[in-house]
Amino acid sequence: MLVHIGRIIHKKMLGKYAVPAFNTSDLEMTQGIVRAAEKQKAPVIIQTSVGALEYAGIEELIGIIKVEARQASVPIALHQDHCHDFVLIKKLINLGYSSIMVDASHLPYKENLKLTKQVVSYAHKQGVWVQAELGRILGNEDWQNVKSGDDLMTDPIQAAEFVADTRIDTLAIAVGSVHGIPVDPRIKKILSTLKEHVDIERVRQIRLKVKIPLVMHGASGVPDNQIRAAIKYGVAVFNIDTDLRVAFNKALRTNIKKNPQIYDPRKLFRPATDALQAMAERKLKLMKTSGHAKRFKNN
Ligand code: 13P
Repeated sequence: MLVHIGRIIHKKMLGKYAVPAFNTSDLEMTQGIVRAAEKQKAPVIIQTSVGALEYAGIEELIGIIKVEARQASVPIALHQDHCHDFVLIKKLINLGYSSIMVDASHLPYKENLKLTKQVVSYAHKQGVWVQAELGRILGNEDWQNVKSGDDLMTDPIQAAEFVADTRIDTLAIAVGSVHGIPVDPRIKKILSTLKEHVDIERVRQIRLKVKIPLVMHGASGVPDNQIRAAIKYGVAVFNIDTDLRVAFNKALRTNIKKNPQIYDPRKLFRPATDALQAMAERKLKLMKTSGHAKRFKNN
């Protein structure tokens, strides 16, 4: 069932379990995610990036997600990942997203604050949640002026002020995780200045000051014990994209290699979708999301 994000992300879950926000860009990824959620009886967030919307087409991709979600026996919320285009944000809200991430973290603080406030004012009138980011998550974002890992991180005191000023619903924190697999040597150099993959003590400090649910982006490569620790300190949502893609990709390549005679894309994709599903199920178990869909009745 397609539900508002506020039904699956709430204060009562904080410290106990989290919900993954899985990225999708096509039918196969969406089906793999939905099947995983159903098998684990778990609520799940499905999110689109601007790149995914460009790849598949806005109406096409949203159509696929909505149909799959409405037919599913578990609650699924639709969220837009990083976006700083207000026109697109308005369009997506009209198309039924219950949560939007306005990402102006590449801008100076005051401008980030201004755009975030404008989006909150618009979205809240429609009952839509807003996520915003403070600090910088390495990867596909603007990181050119970043010298060391610490320059990237969310400052707990500034985070508290930002949340109070903007009235956002969820906060994306920068605590060391990165988008994708770091290949750029400059990113690797910055990361080498960090003691651990994720600065768990910083998550704890942010939690002491910020009461809304926290979101960790770039959660794919984060070790399991750090995911568990982050949940303990109030991370309610973990964004996962790369691990799904890698699982799909590996299975697809193996299948093509093993069966060079197959030319039907459906037969090529099937084991890849299954592998993606298995990876999504692994994340649902790790985050203790499994079983939390049981209280939802299909309507
Ligand atoms: P990964 O690709 O590292 O899983 O990160 C996904 C993400 O944070 C999307 O916003």
